[in-house]
Amino acid sequence: MILKNPNMFEEDYVPDTITGRTKEIQEIVGTIQPLLEKMKSDNLFIYGPTGVGKTLCVTHVLKNLSEMSSKVTGVYINCWVQRTRPAVLYEIIKSVGDFSPRRGLSGDEIMEELNKCLSSYWGVVVVLDEIDKTKDKEVIYDLLRIIKTRVIIIGLSNLNSFEMDQRILSAYSPRKIEFRGYSVDEIKGILNERAKKALYPGSYDDDVIGLCAAIGYNSGGDARVALKILFSSAKEAQLKNLNKIDIATVQKIKEKTILIRRDSDDLEGLEKNIYDFIGIGKTSKEIENQFPQVTGRTIRNILKKLGEKNMIKKIRLEGKGNRFRYVKVV
Ligand SMILES: Nc1ncnc2c1ncn2[C@@H]1O[C@H](COP(=O)(O)OP(=O)(O)OP(=O)(O)O)[C@@H](O)[C@H]1O
Ligand SMILES: [Mg+2]
Repeated sequence: MILKNPNMFEEDYVPDTITGRTKEIQEIVGTIQPLLEKMKSDNLFIYGPTGVGKTLCVTHVLKNLSEMSSKVTGVYINCWVQRTRPAVLYEIIKSVGDFSPRRGLSGDEIMEELNKCLSSYWGVVVVLDEIDKTKDKEVIYDLLRIIKTRVIIIGLSNLNSFEMDQRILSAYSPRKIEFRGYSVDEIKGILNERAKKALYPGSYDDDVIGLCAAIGYNSGGDARVALKILFSSAKEAQLKNLNKIDIATVQKIKEKTILIRRDSDDLEGLEKNIYDFIGIGKTSKEIENQFPQVTGRTIRNILKKLGEKNMIKKIRLEGKGNRFRYVKVV
C-alpha cells in the first residue's frame, strides 16, 4: 500500500505545517498587528507566480485572527468566483452577519447593511484573492470608505501590478510583498512534510521526492505542480501494485500530465494567439514573422505583459547579442 491519506493531496486540504514561509507570514501578521490594537494598519498586496503559497499563508493568518482578537474579524473572497461589486459585498455581509436578503438591494442599501454587520468589530481584514479578476475595482474603494470599522484589504495576485483608477489606487496604496517561486530544497521540504503524513513509510524515497521537486521547480517554483505529480505517481504505483513509487512512474506521469496554466483561459485575442504560438519555445524573430500584420512594438509589449504574468520566460540566446527565445512557464 502506498496512499495512507489521499485526501491530504486534495487541492482544498490545508496543511497544518507551512514550510519555508515564516518570514512572509511574519510580515503579514506584522502588518495586521496595529489593527489588533485598534490602530491604523497598511493594506497589503501580495504577488507572485502560481503555486507558491500565497493563498495558503493568508488563509492561515486569517484562521488565527479570531484567536488574536474578538474585535477583529477576517473575510476571504475569491474574486474569480465573486467577480462583481455586489457579489463581493454580499459575500462579506453573509460571512460576517447572518443576512440573506429576500430581494436585490440598491448600492446604498448594501453599504448600509455592511456597515451594520461590521459595527460590532473595530477592524476587519478582507482578503481579495485574485484581486485583478474583479470586474469593478470600485469595490476596493467602497470597502476603504467604511468609517466606523477599520478595513484592511489584502489583495493577492499573480501579477505584480494591475490597472486601477488613480482614486482607488490612492485609497488602497498597499504595501507590497513578493512571494518568489520556491527553491528545489524548499519544495523538497514541502513534499517530505506532506508525504510523511499522506503516504506509508517506505513507499517513497529521496529520489522520488527530488524528481517531483525538480519538476515543480522547473514550473516556476510551483509547489502545487510538485504535489500533484507526487500524488498522481502514488496513485499510479498503487494501481500497478508496486510496493513503492519508482522513478519510472514519476517520469511517465510527468510526460502524461499536461501542465495547464489556469491563467491561459483568461487571455484573449492576439495575446492568446501569441501565447499559444510560443509552444515549447520561439525566438522573437519567429514570433514577429508569424504575426506580420502586427508591429514589433505591439508584440514586444505583449511579450512583456506575458512575462509580468509569469506565463513566459525570456532566455537570452548565446552569442546572438540582444536576441531572445521565449518559452512558456508551465
Ligand atoms: N509552504 C508550503 N507548505 C505546505 N504546502 C504548501 C506550501 N506552499 C504551497 N503549498 C501547497 O501548494 C498548493 C498551492 O498553494 P497556494 O494555493 O497557496 O498557491 P498560490 O500562490 O495561492 O497559487 P495561485 O496563484 O495559483 O493561486 C496548495 O495545495 C498548498 O497547500
Ligand atoms: Mg491562490
